[in-house]
Amino acid sequence: MSIQVNQVNKFYGDTQVLHDVSFTCNKGDTLVLLGPSGAGKSSLLRILNLLESATSGNMSVAGMSFDFAKGLTEKQGLELRQKVGMVFQQYNLWPHMTVLENLIEAPVRVAGLSKTAAKEEANRILDMLQLGDKSDAWPLQLSGGQQQRVAIARALMMKPDVLLFDEPTAALDPEITSQVAKVINDLSQTGITQVVVTHEVDFARKVASHVLYLEDGKVVENGTNEVFNTPTTQNFADYLTH
Ligand SMILES: Nc1ncnc2c1ncn2[C@@H]1O[C@H](COP(=O)(O)OP(=O)(O)O)[C@@H](O)[C@H]1O
Ligand SMILES: [Mg+2]
Repeated sequence: MSIQVNQVNKFYGDTQVLHDVSFTCNKGDTLVLLGPSGAGKSSLLRILNLLESATSGNMSVAGMSFDFAKGLTEKQGLELRQKVGMVFQQYNLWPHMTVLENLIEAPVRVAGLSKTAAKEEANRILDMLQLGDKSDAWPLQLSGGQQQRVAIARALMMKPDVLLFDEPTAALDPEITSQVAKVINDLSQTGITQVVVTHEVDFARKVASHVLYLEDGKVVENGTNEVFNTPTTQNFADYLTH
């Protein structure tokens, strides 16, 4: 099991935004988190790499276990994030660094890889994502879709077991969106576990091996890709057709 989440509750002040959320995810799965705005998707995603703590419940991610009721240290978050990468809607590339420099920064500074080894790995990943000719480009010289793929490449440099995406296609046009879908599908062949937040149903259908549908912080539907064709709840059926 790559991800196991048990009875996670999350409060911001007095407001509860996640209610007893439980699910599991096997190694190599691509789990799509769907749901209306405010459902708690981003909060749940940020909990999965401890950018955010939950109020109660426990989880195991990439071989590390966490009990939220006991409280967590900053060190636990840093350790987990070595194994769990995140790709945001706004690509968050460093504009003053070339593509190659963006990729090797964390492996060299955080993971202590040699510059030579990091560059070799960066070029391998850029080739894989059809960005082999962009290593010396500046981020702002690239299209949105290319910047998003560089952001994915940068996350892959840390050899994560789990890769999280928050609305990775929200700022992209349909053609680029299908390129990002292809990258996610190619990556799923490598055994990496992916969790993808989106509200785009067509994109979700293309990449999901499994689906978790949330409303008001509660799990409403949880199943394989089949639930797109045969929803088991009326709420999810309605969501798919609106
Ligand atoms: N840092 C925060 N402080 C207080 N409330 C927040 C914070 N982040 C999110 N929320 C609230 O939590 C709920 C879920 O938000 P979010 O996880 O961003 O949902 P989604 O990603 O599904 O749109 C919303 O009501 C939102 O306003
Ligand atoms: Mg969100």
